[in-house]
Amino acid sequence: MSNTLQKLQDLEPSAEEFAAAVHAGLSQAAKSLPCKFFYDFEGSRLFDRICELPEYYPTRTESRILEKHAGDIAQLIGPGARLVEFGSGAGVKIRLLLSALARPAAYVPVDISRLHLLAAASSLAKDFPRLVIAPICADYTKPFDLPAPTGAAPGATIGFFPGSTIGNFTPDEARLFLVNARQLLGRSSLMLVGVDLRKDEAVLVRAYDDAAGVTAAFNLNLLRRINRELGGTFQLDEFTHRARWNDVLGRMEMHLVSRRAQTVEVDGRRFSFAAGEAIHTENSHKYSISQFQALAGEAGYAPRAVWTDEAELFSVHLLEDARSPGKA
Ligand code: TRP
Repeated sequence: MSNTLQKLQDLEPSAEEFAAAVHAGLSQAAKSLPCKFFYDFEGSRLFDRICELPEYYPTRTESRILEKHAGDIAQLIGPGARLVEFGSGAGVKIRLLLSALARPAAYVPVDISRLHLLAAASSLAKDFPRLVIAPICADYTKPFDLPAPTGAAPGATIGFFPGSTIGNFTPDEARLFLVNARQLLGRSSLMLVGVDLRKDEAVLVRAYDDAAGVTAAFNLNLLRRINRELGGTFQLDEFTHRARWNDVLGRMEMHLVSRRAQTVEVDGRRFSFAAGEAIHTENSHKYSISQFQALAGEAGYAPRAVWTDEAELFSVHLLEDARSPGKA
């Protein structure tokens, strides 16, 4: 086999960073925990199961859109592209793109879950033996460097941010993410982003509170991780998963709700919970197509194309750096 799988660039958040984030989040009047810590090995595995749930429409809908329009997308991207994926996970969707692209030059998967990232990268290296794969384990909201373009005639650099992960940011954070991504990817770069669309509340609530309880297990796994890595004393059966739609802010909100008054220790520090008090763990914002294009515009991206499924559940946007040559 050719040697195109490059050494991991490891910027995984440290245990100290995790501890500081948990202490800060649980010390607030309205308790919260940052969602990036969901993805330890077990969390990543549970998330892959969420993606296959009958109620969780985003993954399969987005994959169908990518499959159906892979030819158009490949045409717009052109040959010899360098792809940078933010939150690459199991590496399923990238295969749809890579198979359609003409001579893709390099793939840079960026993910916070190191073992998951390495497994996905080596499996991809087997299926795409000529592709240079340069994995980076990092929190992609923090700065990191891209490997230099390779090859005689490097094509476009394109960011890939599927799964409506952009919806896990607030609109301000999403704008900031796009501004930073545009700087990282460089002049004339493209960005392919999956964005979940606003829809009936009941459909949304089911997608984030499935009958089999996988999403509940995923949410609660954050407490298990705190217990394991930070000496936490959370009793998992004393907290329940709650998913609810916030109509004013246009987002699904995930919480862990304390069943009773209790005190929990993390790394020797005590945190008290009232009965019914919640820890806010995740937001998932939903946009209309024009709302998202406006947000991307504020970050310096011009809409190049957008695709949806027939039921208009999900959208995939191709954005281009508004500073590109030929643009006003
Ligand atoms: N990006 C996914 C989404 O917003 C993440 C996600 C799916 C998630 N289900 C979840 C996060 C449940 C927390 C809890 O759809």
